[in-house]
Amino acid sequence: MSLDYEPFSSAFRDDPYPAYAALREHAPVHRSPESGSWCISRYEDVSFVLKNPDLFSSSAMQDVLMDGDLGGLTPRYLWFIVKFLWQTRIHPFEIQRAGNLVSMDPPRHDAMRNIVNRGFTPRRIAAWEGRAREIVSQQMRLIEARGAFDLVEDLAIPLPVTIIAEMLGVEPDRKSDFKRWSDAIVALASGSAKENPFESGVLDSFAELFGYLKGMVRARRRAPQDDLISVLVDPAQQDVLRELDVVLFVVLLLVAGNETTTNLIGNAVNALLDHPESLARVAADPTLVPGLIDETLRYDAPIQLIFRTATRDVEIAGTTIPKGGMVTGILGSANRDESRFARADVFDIDRDARGHLGFGLGVHYCLGSSLARLEARVALEALVPELPRLKSVGPRNELIDSFLIRGRRHLHLAYGNA
Ligand code: HEM
Repeated sequence: MSLDYEPFSSAFRDDPYPAYAALREHAPVHRSPESGSWCISRYEDVSFVLKNPDLFSSSAMQDVLMDGDLGGLTPRYLWFIVKFLWQTRIHPFEIQRAGNLVSMDPPRHDAMRNIVNRGFTPRRIAAWEGRAREIVSQQMRLIEARGAFDLVEDLAIPLPVTIIAEMLGVEPDRKSDFKRWSDAIVALASGSAKENPFESGVLDSFAELFGYLKGMVRARRRAPQDDLISVLVDPAQQDVLRELDVVLFVVLLLVAGNETTTNLIGNAVNALLDHPESLARVAADPTLVPGLIDETLRYDAPIQLIFRTATRDVEIAGTTIPKGGMVTGILGSANRDESRFARADVFDIDRDARGHLGFGLGVHYCLGSSLARLEARVALEALVPELPRLKSVGPRNELIDSFLIRGRRHLHLAYGNA
């Protein structure tokens, strides 16, 4: 069964881990039947792919995530292009051509990364801790007053959305649009809207988002403020980061910064609910939270897959991947590889989970890892002491609609007496 593994299929999504185990054991370089992608499942091999951008180009991230099937030059598609152009003054083809940090290779990648790193220095990120605490206390007050709540909707979503919107300098009344836009991009890039983009309405959100961001980038160029977009539109960097590059980078931040951290918080709580002994320990001792975060990134990674293109024939574990072949690195499988992590299928908040690939590895290592850790720590430190008094109500198995991102759509909890 599992040797039919297909990364884009929803068939393996509920519990992909048995399929990953079979792949690691029997087919560590597996050619998926439908997409023809070469799926790499062992820790050592996934690390090799990530550490060698000269052999494995990130262009596949663009091919997989940005090139939705719009069905060729149909009248509907042409109408979309005209509408998009009219609303944004950006040609959709230009978006595909420009690429994005996550789909670029060195040296262009490194030049852009050096600039955007300035917005994510340890000092800049640490400065958000106070604001993160404020947002979490405000949400916790609402939660406690209500007695019953959805952890995802009421805490795990509002925290990263608010922080990223404030970091970027988005007007407060556009914050809810931000979440809607970022959901639309995930659906378009890796969910069911990929197959029927015209029906789902996500293309309209896409156009709204690009129009809004372009306006913002222009405004900050005219009058810089103390926010991330102003750092990015620095006139001294204009030959590396053009206007469209900044817009595309902000779009990447929106998705990378929202959906992933939300699911890290949700997946951590989900794992604790499945492991009451760990829950009791971390509830009594919040210093265990950083270990809980790393173990969650290993055990149930919010980003399960990365994509690459082989730049030449490359041999991995005795199989030759041909030049041009699309490679899927299964982070979620590498993290469960027994040869790297003993008792890898066991959720163990005491283990040294460092070295997991939850944030990737090498030149594309997650730019927002410190921010994600900070947000998850602040949220979980406030929430875990409450967990012994809370019970899970309703199913926890409705997953978000994405082949890339793993997390629960809802986690309904209620105080024992609610
Ligand atoms: C738990 C939360 C997060 C997880 C699991 C995660 C995971 C990842 C992974 C696996 C990559 C590597 C992609 C590759 O190699 O192709 C990556 C890259 C990236 N992440 Fe994150 N991420 C998280 C949070 C964030 C946040 C909060 C931000 C920003 C606000 C962010 C921004 C980025 C960016 C910009 C890249 C591309 C870096 C590059 O290409 O150089 N991520 N992330």
